[in-house]
Amino acid sequence: MSDESSILKGERAALWHGRFSEGPDAEAVEFETSIYADSRMALDDITGSIAHAEMLGRQHIIPEEDASKISAALKDIAYELESGKLSIDPKAEDIHSFIEGVLTERLGDTGKKIHTGRSRNDQIALDERLYLRKAIPDLQDSLITLIETLSEIAEKHTHTLMSGYTHLQRAQPVTLAHHLCAWCWMLVRDWNRFEDALARLDYMPLGSGALAGSGLPLDRNSVAEELGFSHLTQNSLDAVSDRDYCLEIAAHISILMTHLSRFCEEIVLWSTEEFKFIELSEKWSTGSSIMPQKKNPDFAELIRGKTGRVYGDLIALLTMVKGLPLSYNRDLQEDKDNLFDAYDTVFSCVRIFTHMIASAKWNDARMKESCGGGYANATDLADYLVRKGLPFRTAHEVAAGIVRECIQSGVSDIVKLPLENLLKHSALIGPDIYEKLSPEACVQARDLPGGPNPARVGEQISQLRGFIKKAR
Ligand code: ARG
Repeated sequence: MSDESSILKGERAALWHGRFSEGPDAEAVEFETSIYADSRMALDDITGSIAHAEMLGRQHIIPEEDASKISAALKDIAYELESGKLSIDPKAEDIHSFIEGVLTERLGDTGKKIHTGRSRNDQIALDERLYLRKAIPDLQDSLITLIETLSEIAEKHTHTLMSGYTHLQRAQPVTLAHHLCAWCWMLVRDWNRFEDALARLDYMPLGSGALAGSGLPLDRNSVAEELGFSHLTQNSLDAVSDRDYCLEIAAHISILMTHLSRFCEEIVLWSTEEFKFIELSEKWSTGSSIMPQKKNPDFAELIRGKTGRVYGDLIALLTMVKGLPLSYNRDLQEDKDNLFDAYDTVFSCVRIFTHMIASAKWNDARMKESCGGGYANATDLADYLVRKGLPFRTAHEVAAGIVRECIQSGVSDIVKLPLENLLKHSALIGPDIYEKLSPEACVQARDLPGGPNPARVGEQISQLRGFIKKAR
């Protein structure tokens, strides 16, 4: 907690203290600080300030000599922060005040020139963009590792049969590879969504001032160039009040969490005794404090559980912005906790999920078993009859009649019925039906692009490889 005097008169007085004769209440100071959330953007704040100071010098808004001193001192501060020689004052109002305070302590009046033509409103918009511009690619990289891990597993399992499900009922045989590739494509879309967000982040806000730009001859273009931005924000009011990039990234993170959560649901199901498609490694499972035999898929459950928390972050961000008139309002300071929480959560979930899935063992025999017992080849039987010239609706009825007979006589698979029984349903059925209805044959037959035929899945895997190569 700060005491009043330091806010108004102390070495690091609040940036706005001049208009005030009375300091804020200590509790008020504690309430309004954003220093904790800001801390992770300290180096970005400095990067922005260096670019700003150097531009001020080039434009002769401040003497070039002062600009060089400011830039050198900021680089020292960055180095000291990184090496731990300088630590962030937890009593500071925000990261901008802290850095400016340290700079002014070191350079006196020269340090006081850094904020020329700038406001914390455009500064924070810049800092967030600079931070996210690094953080998002890190997240994308971890997604690539996950996609690669899944496609490597898929590559080994293009012939591993398993039932595909709809309504969680056995539906038609597919392969594990096909199933895993399905998850990969969702993650590819996630990666692309982040790429889109990065493009919309690529606008430099400095020069927008508090809301209305600046009368000083700032050179926004050179700052943008220096900081590696492709565009300038087009409207100063919009620039200081826009948090679309936070909303968008939180939304993309939420969709990614949805995918992980759904996949985790399968992992949880698949590791049950009932399914037993997968066995999680001991490293990525937990036990029970009371039931000695238990090995639980807690990591999958935690990822599924944390999805709710990330949705909460998104809703908090949307709600924060929805009633705000232009332009900057302090509400916007609340963006960081939710955005960073969503980011940190998804980042760890992607990594944990990757470890969990990479170390799991697959039970090929159990997966194959799931292709029988549920008449999962009934659609393929209908297709067989269609190939022999029967209209599909009639073929569907014939196949359904055969399934009904199986159920009534307690036969677990269509291919276990003798040919004479099958012939009673349709004279078009020949002895080749037995080989045509094996799960292998069913999967083999479905060889359209995007289908489960092993060669087709091989194509998917090479498309995924191509994506990984390009994305890296
Ligand atoms: N900490 C503030 C934020 O995150 C920085 C901008 C402060 N601006 C202001 N007018 N008080 O939004």
